[in-house]
Amino acid sequence: MNLTELYQTLGDELKKIEDAKTFKYEVPLESVQNGIVKVAGRDVVMLASNNYLGLANHPKVVEAAHRGLDEWGYGMASVRFLCGTEPIHLELERRIAAFVGCEAAILHGSCFAANEAFFTAILSNDFGQTEYQDVIYSDQFNHASIIDGIRLCRAVAKNAVLRLYRNRDVDHLAQMLDEDKDKNYRIRIIVTDGVFSMEGFMAPLEGLHRLAREHGALFTVDESHATGVLGATGRGTPEELGLHGQIDCITGTFGKALGGASGGFIAGKKELIEFLRQKSRPYTFSNSMPPSVVTASLAAIDLIEQNPQIVEKLHDNTAWFREEIARLGFSILPGKHAIVPIMLGEAATAQQMSRLLLDEGVYIKGLWYPVVPKGEARLRGQISAAHSKNDLDRALDAFKRTGKRMGVI
Ligand SMILES: Cc1ncc(COP(=O)(O)O)c(C=O)c1O
Repeated sequence: MNLTELYQTLGDELKKIEDAKTFKYEVPLESVQNGIVKVAGRDVVMLASNNYLGLANHPKVVEAAHRGLDEWGYGMASVRFLCGTEPIHLELERRIAAFVGCEAAILHGSCFAANEAFFTAILSNDFGQTEYQDVIYSDQFNHASIIDGIRLCRAVAKNAVLRLYRNRDVDHLAQMLDEDKDKNYRIRIIVTDGVFSMEGFMAPLEGLHRLAREHGALFTVDESHATGVLGATGRGTPEELGLHGQIDCITGTFGKALGGASGGFIAGKKELIEFLRQKSRPYTFSNSMPPSVVTASLAAIDLIEQNPQIVEKLHDNTAWFREEIARLGFSILPGKHAIVPIMLGEAATAQQMSRLLLDEGVYIKGLWYPVVPKGEARLRGQISAAHSKNDLDRALDAFKRTGKRMGVI
């Protein structure tokens, strides 16, 4: 293929994506991210962001970012081990580790990078052994970054076996572990999202944790959608399910509830974290988090720890919205999480409803096949502590009008 043919082929592929109605369009916001945002000159209720705690533009977070710029400058122009570490990086590692209930933590540019780093860093090392096999048990619906991390690992660490267990199915995992009981695996890793973002369902941590203990596996949970969101004090799925401090390894992001800019982390035992500092390639070969994002992330943790009412407000808003949208006659997936999937069935219905709702002043995204199973198209509402009751009322009124107009309720 010459270059002209390549560009032609790429253009054809884009057309196919458009024809299949899976093209991802971006709607520019004309305001900062918040409970209410401006789109095409109008104020609309934002129900599609991961700004769960409303910290993305909280004055204290913004002020901390300014302070970071003033005190520590704009960029590090380096990776951590060359000359990219400042005391604030070390402080954020200490604080996030304590917050999620682990001994230590290591920052990465994003949680995507953290998940990509994790498996290869651990399993590509022979630790002096010549004959061995490792195994990763992964939930079939884990996030793309876990999938890619495992793919990368298996391309490098040829001895790593992957076993996918059915989504949140503890019995299926137990069966696999049982089948593998007599296999002499060197390292076993069980990995799951803490919260699955298409449904807002929690992973059954208790059962998975028990199996990990029984089979000597390293239990890893990606808490990107749960830190700051679940648990009475926002410490995530383990807190919600009574397992805070008991998870071997937690990965997460500063790009959602914890400030919403960017940055990721891996937390776990000191030895694991120090080993990753030596062996994680995205850590070793990619720039440190910028100082302003670090100081703002620290301010986000301060806010959550010092103002439990922020997390409570998210929980109240979520419970209230879930109740009211169901009362209107919409079918939602059950749960406690701020992700509220409103089930519509056909992709065309979800597409149309999302468009009409924007006209009615609500920004919400639709999900349909192949992102979710055929016939399970939905609108994914995401509630925030930044919403006032009035904002949510506005959204519910718009849902009522649009739902009736479309014959959905
Ligand atoms: C479960 C999960 N893991 C990882 C990520 C990636 O996070 P980041 O934006 O920090 O790369 C996301 C973001 O969508 C996620 O939902």
